Amino acid sequence: VGTLGEADLKGKKVFVRADLNVPLDDAQKITDDTRIRASVPTIKFLLEKGAKVVLASHLGRPKGVTPKYSLKPLVPRLSELLGVDVVMANDCIGEEVEKLAAALPEGGVLLLENVRFYKEEEKNDPEFAKKLASVADLYVNDAFGTAHRAHASTEGVTKFLKPAVAGFLMQKELDYLVGAVANPKKPFAAIVGGSKVSTKIGVIESLLAKVDILILGGGMIYTFYKAQGYAVGKSLVEEDKLELATSLIEKAKAKGVSLLLPTDIVVADKFAPNAESKIVPATAIPDDWMGLDIGPDAIKTFNAALDTTQTIIWNGPMGVFEFEKFAAGTDAIAKKLAELTTSKGVTTIIGGGDSVAAVEKAGLADKMSHISTGGGASLELLEGKPLPGVLALDDA
Ligand code: 3PG
Repeated sequence: VGTLGEADLKGKKVFVRADLNVPLDDAQKITDDTRIRASVPTIKFLLEKGAKVVLASHLGRPKGVTPKYSLKPLVPRLSELLGVDVVMANDCIGEEVEKLAAALPEGGVLLLENVRFYKEEEKNDPEFAKKLASVADLYVNDAFGTAHRAHASTEGVTKFLKPAVAGFLMQKELDYLVGAVANPKKPFAAIVGGSKVSTKIGVIESLLAKVDILILGGGMIYTFYKAQGYAVGKSLVEEDKLELATSLIEKAKAKGVSLLLPTDIVVADKFAPNAESKIVPATAIPDDWMGLDIGPDAIKTFNAALDTTQTIIWNGPMGVFEFEKFAAGTDAIAKKLAELTTSKGVTTIIGGGDSVAAVEKAGLADKMSHISTGGGASLELLEGKPLPGVLALDDA
């Protein structure tokens, strides 16, 4: 979008697809406005250049028109952040939308209702895309979090609106998750956690081709331990992924990647916030106990390895950080990354939902080089998959 100047934008109606899929509580109050704030720079830029913004997003996964998935509760916060009175439409296509769009002044914003109220959105129906596009002159996609979906508002509309360009948020996400990962300052480390190996296979395999150090944590490590013949007690294990775990260990060796698994574990007698807990060596988890976090020795080893790096990408927590008792490992990683970013200029990239939540919970969000606003989208990018919402843009 930065390549568009006043000549392209003044008086033009710009269809902006943002990812305003924010969490709402039962009273329809926004509980985390990160995605709204992340969308502001692009919209403000367009408004300052004299454009008229028609803003579209999905919220949740509604089946048809569902009031609790309306975008209406977002209007006050959006208006406040943009410094303009955002006009809300009752629909995302149709006569009312056409009238409101036509009446928009330069510097005005019209927020369309949830595009997923129509099944045609997810079907990427061309007729629906054409209707969405009909109220605007050009297209800006800033919805990185939805770029892995080939939907009407992320992909289909680009057939009808030119130019079709990336917004600032989209650009920044790609700069870090593609640019910094493809051409990292070395040494480059990846920290991959989360509960299941099965959901992270693609990411691990893809990162193994790029990193110098791969640190593993979270629930997935017990499958790796079991594959190596260690006792894992009642820890989470994916029995059908044992061979895969072994093959990933071998692949790391073959590629000369230093693969680090935690050396000690915080085990619990049950999966509960108030469970009994103790620290044991990773090779000897007692029967009837389950691993819920990495131990202090593992944190020390991981920190020492991270101290040698210039670029770090982190996806997935080290333990059950939702339980305070088992959050120490995840918190320690968050602190280490913040420290390395601020004091040593290390590039730190946080991709994926849970690690982002952990960094935010630790109050360290503004200390990282980049925190992705996309869960599924960043995972697919890190797996090396192309994103349809990006491919559809002019300069893809
Ligand atoms: C997300 O929250 O990851 C994005 O908004 C995409 O939502 P979806 O998984 O429902 O397509």
